[in-house]
Amino acid sequence: MALSFDLGRQLDAQLRQAAEGLAAFSNDFAPEVRPADPRFGDFQANGVLAFAKKAKANPRQLATQLVDALIALDGFSGALVQPKKGEPTPPPNGIDYSIEIAGPGFINFRASTGVLAQWLGDFRDEDAFKKGASSRFEGRKIIIDYPSPNTAKQMHIGHLRPMVIGEAVARILEFCGANVIRDNHIGDWGTNFGTLIMAIKREGVDLGALGDNGLPEIERLYKLGTALEKEDPAVRDISRNELVQLQQGDAENTAIWQQIVALTNLVFEKTYARMGVTPDVTLGESFYCDKVDRIYTELTECGIAEESDGALVVWHDEVKKFARDNERPYPFNIRKQDGASNYGSTDLATVLYRVEHFKADEIVYITGGPQQDHFEQLFLTVDKWFTCKDYSKPQLEHVWFGTILGEDGKAIRTRSGESIQLASLLDEAVARASKMAAEKTKSPDLTDEEKAAIAEAVGVGAVRYADLSQNRTQDYVFAWDKLLAFEGNTAPYLQMQGARIHSILRKLGLQPGEGEEGASALETDTELALARKLLNFPVALEMAISDLRPHHLCTYLFELAGAFSSFFSADHVMVDEPDIKARRVMLCARTLAALETGLHLLGIQTLQRM
Ligand code: ARG
Repeated sequence: MALSFDLGRQLDAQLRQAAEGLAAFSNDFAPEVRPADPRFGDFQANGVLAFAKKAKANPRQLATQLVDALIALDGFSGALVQPKKGEPTPPPNGIDYSIEIAGPGFINFRASTGVLAQWLGDFRDEDAFKKGASSRFEGRKIIIDYPSPNTAKQMHIGHLRPMVIGEAVARILEFCGANVIRDNHIGDWGTNFGTLIMAIKREGVDLGALGDNGLPEIERLYKLGTALEKEDPAVRDISRNELVQLQQGDAENTAIWQQIVALTNLVFEKTYARMGVTPDVTLGESFYCDKVDRIYTELTECGIAEESDGALVVWHDEVKKFARDNERPYPFNIRKQDGASNYGSTDLATVLYRVEHFKADEIVYITGGPQQDHFEQLFLTVDKWFTCKDYSKPQLEHVWFGTILGEDGKAIRTRSGESIQLASLLDEAVARASKMAAEKTKSPDLTDEEKAAIAEAVGVGAVRYADLSQNRTQDYVFAWDKLLAFEGNTAPYLQMQGARIHSILRKLGLQPGEGEEGASALETDTELALARKLLNFPVALEMAISDLRPHHLCTYLFELAGAFSSFFSADHVMVDEPDIKARRVMLCARTLAALETGLHLLGIQTLQRM
């Protein structure tokens, strides 16, 4: 039998096919195959239960019928066995799966060692994994909107999450075959530019002379500007006028605005490079300013938008919290009272542009939790508008995240109460990693340059992994000691495990993939447990994509590293018997491939030595 990369999905498809031929099953039957508790098997299908309940049928009878049809299916090799206590029963000789019907109607599958060996032979390295995974989203165009910071402000620790999560999501979807466009939707258009231009002119600052260090100065000018406005309402009018001038295309103000944007992007790009973030396009809010009129017209014509106190708004009365009769209703604002566009209108124009220009099938937005209402209203509006105009609807997804907390449980800040600059945070991570590595290193012959590269990979990797390993919708506490530890679910631990496997292969004089000829069948419990863990890589990937939550992949990699440790302490690789040695070398190389593939998907550098 030809094996799929994701055996769980393959079983799922085969069960569906088996059900098609049975009168008792209808089209809405979903087999729901997932990884099983290892005490029961490798995979479990539990969809029969829910289906039987709806169909008011006996689940065990349905499961038995289904399994019979599956076994009879062309291209499937399995045998029904009786469940017993202890280990799941292995399939009889020459059969791929043993199948047990357990409890009220669960179907458990146990793969043969032959299937394990074949799978490990078919999927040997990162390229093969990618080939196996790529059918998932083949031909699908997905726009990922990140990191999308705001112009004229330095990046602080809060900007870590959109970069780290966005990049992981982009890599995972790309790996699964999607045609991904990383679209950096910067906030480069807003009322703050009126204040800034006012302050710049008043102070007589020449932005061109600021050089690389311009951003802190721009921040200072903005603070100064808002303070002046507070003191004197006349200043506020000047700012407002500067903004209107800018919006009307005044040459001087446009030039200042362009300088601010360029200066900011220069600084941002350094951080992107360090974080391995490479936007394909940077089309900020300003790009859509001249594309909003069509939005106002179409939404009004469709009867979706209406004037309210001089502004243009969209009501979603069917959603209680946004409804007109709610105590504190929140209409979706798409044009301000002064006629200016806003976050709502530019985002609507952005959706349309992404569909018409980029032919997007799906758009994924990566932002913090406080923007949930905005995106809910945006998606509702797009749905009604696209239905009215009969435009093809993209799938829209808001991938939001929680806050990074300090050890006191409050939003993280410096001791003096300011936000922590991202660049200095990363520098600190690298400095700490460098100190740690100096104490711990097993490779005393490393050059200073190599040591610096390792510290960068470990420091940045640790910060990144600490973020990704948490369920993204939860807040998490940023704690140096925990995220930089060499034990536990951390990047340094996983990087260390990878370097350890490289070192084993080096000692044997082998490159990954070499020295596997003549391997005998896997035998010991720890060998088999590791092989079965490897088989679950696609399952972890599938969990990560189903709700775009990369932490599932982290959890998996941590468990894989654990399974490797158990194998490595129980089964010696450097044994005299060439066949045993070959199969253990194979397991080392395969673990390395899965570990490194996973870390690369998370945007974390892997190391050959540490
Ligand atoms: N600039 C926004 C912020 O910093 C995020 C933009 C997200 N993307 C979008 N299309 N609204 O909060």
